[in-house]
Amino acid sequence: MLRMPFSIRKAVFPAAGLGIRFLPATKAQPKEMLPLVDKPIIQYGVEEAIASGVENMIIVTGRGKNAIEDHFDVAFELEAFLTARGKAELLAEIRKVSDLINVAYVRQGEPRGLGHAVLMAEPLVGDESFAVILADDVIDATPPALAQMIKVHEEVEGPVILVERVRPEDISNYGVIAADPIRPGVYRVTDMVEKPPREQAPSNLAIIGRYILTPDIFGALRATREDHSGEIQLTNGLKHLLKDRPVYACEVTGVRHDTGNKLGFLKAVVYFAMQRPELAGPLREYLKTVT
Ligand code: G1P
Repeated sequence: MLRMPFSIRKAVFPAAGLGIRFLPATKAQPKEMLPLVDKPIIQYGVEEAIASGVENMIIVTGRGKNAIEDHFDVAFELEAFLTARGKAELLAEIRKVSDLINVAYVRQGEPRGLGHAVLMAEPLVGDESFAVILADDVIDATPPALAQMIKVHEEVEGPVILVERVRPEDISNYGVIAADPIRPGVYRVTDMVEKPPREQAPSNLAIIGRYILTPDIFGALRATREDHSGEIQLTNGLKHLLKDRPVYACEVTGVRHDTGNKLGFLKAVVYFAMQRPELAGPLREYLKTVT
């Protein structure tokens, strides 16, 4: 098949994290499988990739993450049961999950950071540009956030990081960029720093869990030293790459939820429930009664 030189065919989902912030819920199930209403968090990311024209998913997993593989696999007994009961709508819903995607798994044996997780995907990515989606950041956007980035990638022909302006008190939770604007919402990155103290943040533009990377990121990550906690940070790998080539950023147009913390998770549940006609009314009524 003829393809555009800058099209993105593969998305990497780092999903080996231990989910410490959601214990005990994540003791025996992956945090990526916690549902927002009735859909696991990671499925939102996968659907975003598909809606952005990306067909191949590479999920970087670890111990105790089998539920993710089962989720995207065919569930033969469940399908037979739903068929026998004539539950066509539910059947279509669960088939959609397994039919839609080409998925490959690779293990990250030890929790050595996001940059290390991306390195684990190198043999499956090969020599082409690819996306990285951190499923914790769930973004409701039209066009989808990744599609917005792919458009910028095609224009600038280089790596693109997704950013959002955040409140000063939140900036130390993120990778932060220093950047020169190219046009509204698009920047050329001049520096970046992982989770700086508030007073040292170079801007309020926070990296929010979507990257389009070129294959030279792998060499840059290999050359990146571990941080004080023994992790290889993707932000530091990108900073290394910045010495050799321009890196870009674009601001997302859409609503982002950080489901990686409890309040963000709860807000996301309410947000997506409010989009369901059968739930919105009763939930709004219920919330009014909660004091
Ligand atoms: C990771 C990245 C950070 C980025 C954030 C976005 O951090 O290291 O640069 O801003 O994702 O969600 P984590 O949230 O995994 O600690």
